[in-house]
Amino acid sequence: MRRRLSDLHRTAFVTGAASGLGRAFSGMLLAEGVRVWGTSRDLSRFSEPGPAGGNRVSPVLLDLADPAGAEAAYRRAAAEAGGFDLVINNAGYGVFGDFAAIDAAVWRAQVEAMLVATLGLTHAAYREMRVRGRGCLVNVSSLAAEFPLPYMAGYNTAKAGLSALSESLIQEARGSGVAVIDFRPGDYNTGFNDAIRRDPAAAGPGEASVDRAWRAIDAMFRGSPEPGRAAADLLAALRRNRSGIVRSGGFFQARAAPFLARLVPACVVRAASRRYFGGR
Ligand SMILES: NC(=O)c1ccc[n+]([C@@H]2O[C@H](COP(=O)([O-])OP(=O)(O)OC[C@H]3O[C@@H](n4cnc5c(N)ncnc54)[C@H](OP(=O)(O)O)[C@@H]3O)[C@@H](O)[C@H]2O)c1
Repeated sequence: MRRRLSDLHRTAFVTGAASGLGRAFSGMLLAEGVRVWGTSRDLSRFSEPGPAGGNRVSPVLLDLADPAGAEAAYRRAAAEAGGFDLVINNAGYGVFGDFAAIDAAVWRAQVEAMLVATLGLTHAAYREMRVRGRGCLVNVSSLAAEFPLPYMAGYNTAKAGLSALSESLIQEARGSGVAVIDFRPGDYNTGFNDAIRRDPAAAGPGEASVDRAWRAIDAMFRGSPEPGRAAADLLAALRRNRSGIVRSGGFFQARAAPFLARLVPACVVRAASRRYFGGR
C-alpha cells in the first residue's frame, strides 16, 4: 500500500492558501494527513469548510508587501507547529501592462513582494531545514520563468529570479537531506487573472497591442485545467522527495513547448510567442 505523505512530512506552511493553487495544495496535504498552516491577507477567506473531512488549515495572517512582518508571521507559525517539514512559497499576483506606461513603483513593489520577500521566507525555512538535515522547500514559480509573458515584466522578472534561487539551492542542498522543488505551473483555472492588476489610466501608445495580448492570454487561461491537477503533480513530486524542476499543466505548455524550445534558437521561440499572443 502507498504511504501517506504524513509519513514523510508532519507539518506544512503554505502561502496564499485561501484560494486557487494554494487552496488545492492545502486540501491535498490535509487529505494526506499533514497539518497545514496557511496564509492569507484576509483570514475570513478561510471560513469555508475544509476540504478534508473536517481537517482545517491553521490560518496565518501574512502580507508579502511587508517582508519583515511576513518573516515574523512565519516564525510565529513555525514555533507553534514545532517546525515545518514542508514549506510551499505559493503566493503571488500579476500586473499587466506596458512596462514604460506603468509607474516603476508598481513593478518594484511586485518584485519586492514576489521575489525579495519570498527569498526572506525561503531563507528562514531553508536554514531551519539544513540544521535539522531534512525537509522540503517548494517555490511555486511559473512556466513564465522560461517563456516570459508579454506585458508582465515584473511577474516574469520575479518568477525567473525565484527559479534561479531554487536552482541555486538545488545545487547547495545536494546530500543535505533537504529537497528543493522549483514548481513551474502553466495556466490553471484559478482567480489569478481576475485578481490581475490592470490600470486603465496607464494606457501607453501601444495599448492596442497590450489589449490584443491580454485577450489572447485570458482566452488561453479560461480554458486551462483545474488546480486539482497541479496538486496531484505536486503530490507525486513530494512522494519522490527529490530536488528538481517540476513542470505542471496542459500537455502543450508543460511538456511539448519546453521540449521543443530546447531544439530551436531563442529568436524562433520569441517569434512563436509573438504569433501566439498577437503582440507587435
Ligand atoms: N493560475 C495560473 O495559471 C498560474 C500559472 C503559473 C504560476 N502561478 C502561480 O501560482 C501561485 C498561485 O496563484 P493562483 O493561480 O492560485 O492565483 P490566486 O488564486 O489569485 O492566488 C494567489 C494567492 O496569492 C496570495 N497573494 C497575492 N498577493 C499577496 C501578497 N502581497 N501577500 C501575501 N499573499 C498574497 C493571495 O492570498 P490572499 O489574497 O488570500 O491574501 C492568493 O491566495 C502564484 O504564485 C502564481 O504566480 C499560477
